[in-house]
Amino acid sequence: MNCLFYTGANRALVLAGLSRGYTVRLNLALIGFGAVGRAFARLIESRRAEYPFRIAAIHTARHGTVYNPAGLPATPVFGPPARSAEEFLDRASPHAMVELTPLNPATGEPAVSHIRAAFARGLHVVTANKGPIAHAYSALAAEARAARVLFRFESTVMDGAPVFNLVRKTLPGVRVLGFSGVLNSTSNLVIEAMREGRSMDDGIARAQSLGIAEADPSFDIDGWDSAVKAAALANVLMDARLSPLDVDRRGIGRLTPERVATLAQSRKTVRLVSRGRLSSGRVRLRVRAEVLDLTDPLAIVQGTSNLLLLHTDLMGVVGTISLAPGVEQTAYGVFADLLDIFG
Ligand SMILES: NC(=O)c1ccc[n+]([C@@H]2O[C@H](COP(=O)([O-])OP(=O)(O)OC[C@H]3O[C@@H](n4cnc5c(N)ncnc54)[C@H](OP(=O)(O)O)[C@@H]3O)[C@@H](O)[C@H]2O)c1
Repeated sequence: MNCLFYTGANRALVLAGLSRGYTVRLNLALIGFGAVGRAFARLIESRRAEYPFRIAAIHTARHGTVYNPAGLPATPVFGPPARSAEEFLDRASPHAMVELTPLNPATGEPAVSHIRAAFARGLHVVTANKGPIAHAYSALAAEARAARVLFRFESTVMDGAPVFNLVRKTLPGVRVLGFSGVLNSTSNLVIEAMREGRSMDDGIARAQSLGIAEADPSFDIDGWDSAVKAAALANVLMDARLSPLDVDRRGIGRLTPERVATLAQSRKTVRLVSRGRLSSGRVRLRVRAEVLDLTDPLAIVQGTSNLLLLHTDLMGVVGTISLAPGVEQTAYGVFADLLDIFG
C-alpha cells in the first residue's frame, strides 16, 4: 500500500491522499498527558483502523518528554523533558498540536504560549484548555488566520458536547444575545453530596475520582472554572473580548448541607450558574450559586451533567445538554476537532 507522510499544514494534501487510497498518517504532538490526554490516547487507539491519527510525541511537566514519529505505545516511557515547548515541537515536527495542560484561570498561560509556538510552526491546534479561549481568543484566532492554520477548542465548554461547532455549523445568520448554563460538574457533585447530607470535601473527592475536577479544585468551588467558561462563550459566540477577571463571580464555597436541606423542603435547589447577556451594547458576565425551583430547566442537571441555553435573535432559546459526561467525552471533543480540521 502506498504511504503518504503529510508534512505541512495542508488539508487539501491529506484529502487528496485519502481519495487516492494512500495510507495517510497524521502525527500529533500532545502537550499535557493527564486524564484527558490518556483518554484521548485510548480513543485514538480504539479507532486506529478507521482514522489516520497517531500520537508521535508527548511533553509533560514532571513526567518528561517522549518522541516516536512511528507512533507511541499506550503507556509511553518518558525521557528527559524538552527545555521548552518550542524545542519539543521542533523535534516532534508533527502535523498538529493538541494542548492539554491544566487551566490557569488568571492568565491562560502557559497554554497561550504553547499555542502561539504551534502557530509559528504552521501547525493546526486543538485544545481542551479553556484558559486561552477566555484570555486571548480574538488574538489567537487572528494569529491562526494569519498563519493559515485552524484552531479548534470544542472540549473547553461542556466537554465534547457541541457548543461552538453547534453555532458555527448549524445556526448560520443567528446572533447570540446571551446564555445561561450549568457548566461546572464538580460543583454539581458537591451540591448532590450535600443533598445526601455529606460534606463539600466528599463531593470534591467524588469529582477527583472521576478525573473531572480541576487540578486545583478550588478553581471549581470558587467559580473560576464557570467564569472562565463564561468568558470563553462570550468571546467566541458574542465577540466580547473579555477575560475571567471581568466576570462578576461568586462560587459555592459558603454553601452548607443544612442550607441545601432547607431549600429541598420548599422544592428548591442550588446550581452554580454562568450567565452572559448583551446590555446597552456591552456583554455582562456573572457566575452565582443561584437558588432555583426544582422545575427550572437549569435545575434538572444532576451529577456531572451540564446544560447550556443560548439566547438568540432568530432562533429564540436553543440549548445543548450533556448527560453524565466523563473524560471520554472531553477526549471525543478533541477527536471531533481533529476530524473537523483534517476533513
Ligand atoms: N478532566 C476533564 O474532564 C476536563 C474536561 C474539559 C476540559 N478539561 C481541560 O483539559 C485540560 C487537561 O485536563 P486534565 O484533566 O487532563 O489535566 P491533568 O490530569 O491535570 O493533566 C495535565 C497534564 O499537563 C501537564 N502539564 C502541566 N503543566 C505543564 C507545562 N507547563 N508544560 C507541559 N505539560 C504540563 C501535566 O504534566 P505531568 O503529568 O508531568 O504532571 C499533565 O500531564 C485542562 O485545561 C482542563 O481544564 C478537562
